[in-house]
Amino acid sequence: MSPTPQLDLASLRTHFPILARKNYLNSCSLGALSDRAEAYLDEFRERWHSMGASAWYEHWWGRLQLLRDRVADLQGAPQGSVALLPSTSAALSGVVDSVPQAAPSLAAVAGPGAAPPKRNRVVISDLDFPTLAYQFATRPELDLVILESVDGVGMDPQQYADAVDERTLFLATSHVFYATGFVQDLEALGEIARRAGAWSLIDGYHGAGQVPVDCEGSGVDFYTSGPLKWLCGGPGLSYLYVRPEITGSLRPRATSWFSTQDQFAFDLEGFHYHEDARRFEMGTPALPTVHTALGGQELLEEVGWETVFARNRALTERLMDRCHETGFSLRTAVTAEHRSAIVMIAHPDPRGAVAHLDRAGIIVDARPGHVRVSPHVYNTEDEVDQVVAELVRYRSG
Ligand SMILES: Cc1ncc(COP(=O)(O)O)c(C=O)c1O
Repeated sequence: MSPTPQLDLASLRTHFPILARKNYLNSCSLGALSDRAEAYLDEFRERWHSMGASAWYEHWWGRLQLLRDRVADLQGAPQGSVALLPSTSAALSGVVDSVPQAAPSLAAVAGPGAAPPKRNRVVISDLDFPTLAYQFATRPELDLVILESVDGVGMDPQQYADAVDERTLFLATSHVFYATGFVQDLEALGEIARRAGAWSLIDGYHGAGQVPVDCEGSGVDFYTSGPLKWLCGGPGLSYLYVRPEITGSLRPRATSWFSTQDQFAFDLEGFHYHEDARRFEMGTPALPTVHTALGGQELLEEVGWETVFARNRALTERLMDRCHETGFSLRTAVTAEHRSAIVMIAHPDPRGAVAHLDRAGIIVDARPGHVRVSPHVYNTEDEVDQVVAELVRYRSG
């Protein structure tokens, strides 16, 4: 396998200092910091020194909007459909508290004139990240249904279709499962929820920046993502997409002066939700992260998303081949269309293996029963080979 043709990999790698120090294969925990992200951060710091609060009006306000717009572009979403929030958990919580108990299409399901039944069921899968489940587990009025994956790797959309019905308030699940890298079909999820009159809420933390995302085309109602992992922008922010057609009907109860139309009127009685997704914002976004996020995403945009996605696929296939050749079992999707660059290698002693790899200068992570390896566009074929070679060495004692 040769690198994707248009990519100057050696040059790209010089932008990420960690790559000269470590074999870094843990981008699904934290994407590497680039010199571009640092340059944005330096600019932020310099303006803070030189302008103080005036930088808000002349620069930083514009940076917030630039980031919202860039994320919308990346995710196939119209301008105005992305809000900045402090974390995915905060974004999910804001969404849950914003919906009327009955979804708008419920009237059609119930029939004209019928009193709509109360929707209180939420359908998720057992492969979702816990913070998604917790949003519903803490609300006793909601009935949380956790569907079980048959193979422990992915879900068949039919499982959702069978479980989502007129009692369902949310179909809430991941775009890409953190535990297995399995990529779900966004369009199918949106359609299953819509048909039953439920809301679709997608945790896309491992989607945006790793695999193509088309929020508008898929028709999902809500999609959360963030700069921390595949977008190489660091911790402190999350992105919330809200389908523009429904935004106006939503009333987030947890709110802030960033949610109101005339923020600088300072009118205690003049709260009017923004027309767009900003109605979900929860106060001043973390400006340092706004800057590192812009830098990280900009660099990847210059590489080109198709190249990023193609290279991640190629590195994943190579990693899997090396594992198969050396007798390691994997917890990954059988078909390529469902695979992503999160590779779970079954291991009897994941923590010991991760510590061994760390001593060899290789950074990966441990999850119960597995060593988790997640290459990104900037990794080399040799780095992928090296992690498997070291695992073989560890196995041989
Ligand atoms: C899929 C997924 N969702 C949510 C989270 C947690 O997000 P936050 O800490 O921003 O609430 C993580 C963290 O790694 C994750 O992997």
